[in-house]
Amino acid sequence: METLFSGIQPSGIPTIGNYIGALKQFVEIQDQYDCYFCIVDQHAITVPQDKTALRKNIRTLAAIYLASGIDPDKATLFIQSEVPAHAQAGWMLTSISTIGELERMTQYKDKAKDRKEGIPAGLLTYPPLMAADILLYGTNIVPVGEDQKQHLELTRDLAERFNNRYNEIFTIPEIRMPKVGGRVMSLQEPTKKMSKSDSNTKGFISLLDPPNTVAKKIKSAVTDSDGIVKYDKENKPGISNLLSMYSIFTGESIESIEKKYEGKGYGDFKGDLAQITVDFITPFQEKYEYYMNHPEILDDILDKGAEKANKKAYKMLKKMENAMGLGRKRR
Ligand code: TYM
Repeated sequence: METLFSGIQPSGIPTIGNYIGALKQFVEIQDQYDCYFCIVDQHAITVPQDKTALRKNIRTLAAIYLASGIDPDKATLFIQSEVPAHAQAGWMLTSISTIGELERMTQYKDKAKDRKEGIPAGLLTYPPLMAADILLYGTNIVPVGEDQKQHLELTRDLAERFNNRYNEIFTIPEIRMPKVGGRVMSLQEPTKKMSKSDSNTKGFISLLDPPNTVAKKIKSAVTDSDGIVKYDKENKPGISNLLSMYSIFTGESIESIEKKYEGKGYGDFKGDLAQITVDFITPFQEKYEYYMNHPEILDDILDKGAEKANKKAYKMLKKMENAMGLGRKRR
């Protein structure tokens, strides 16, 4: 069976964008792969985090993975910092990265420009850590949203560089992005990606927003003034974003949804989408609550996950050290 790896940062409560771009894909294909799903807390600290909030978000994210439908009997769910090989391999891959290629990462540029009090070095060296996450498991496929594409390309470059320079130990991973919904946009500024760290909370739907808040946010989403429910990403980014969400939750094609709302206004369309989203989020949150109310079950899953991940990652770490000549050769 081929291996799948993906990760989500516990840097806030995941949004419906994280669900559509990542979690939903994970669940759809988890039966076809040996899956590793990671709570990447070491990535989260590349920008300052409140210690209590981080701890809480790690647990929340674990419960969200499970509420989304990740099956802990099949997939390995674990916390990055509980598997030390990630940071160790991350260092080795940082050492073969160049400042120039890291400075070219658009996410780095975006995040760095917002920081007034010095740019944390971890923001720059974050992609080789992400490469380590992936390469340690001999990963074949990485399901992610569109914003991670550049990091995945760098991961492939670093894997090839390492293989050529030292030893052919890494599998070159493939990226997998959803056909629709690879980039869910902000509800308030639909030309901007929906993000869990947006200061305008009306721009995103958190997976833990109360259902009435979810409905309100959808109904007040920014659209345009021509009132026609039609997909046109360039000229009608707001309604196009909502159409994608509608299509993803119902499985209906964009064209058939457009037909359904012909001659009707945005009010009807948004009202229905609000209901569809609420119908998804209500049982989702019930499952989430179950795991949050049973910390012993959650801990058991995370303990087993860390144990399994450690075993697999350690083997690759040793291969990397051998290839690079770190430590002593055992007799
Ligand atoms: P993160 O935590 O920002 O996002 C987690 C996943 O959600 C996707 N995503 C979106 N998809 C569609 N629309 C959006 N608006 C949207 N916002 C986020 C992301 O593409 C991602 O798939 N660096 C990664 C975490 C990571 C990782 C890894 C991923 C660390 N190591 C190894 C894969 C493999 C990140 O910051 O994702």
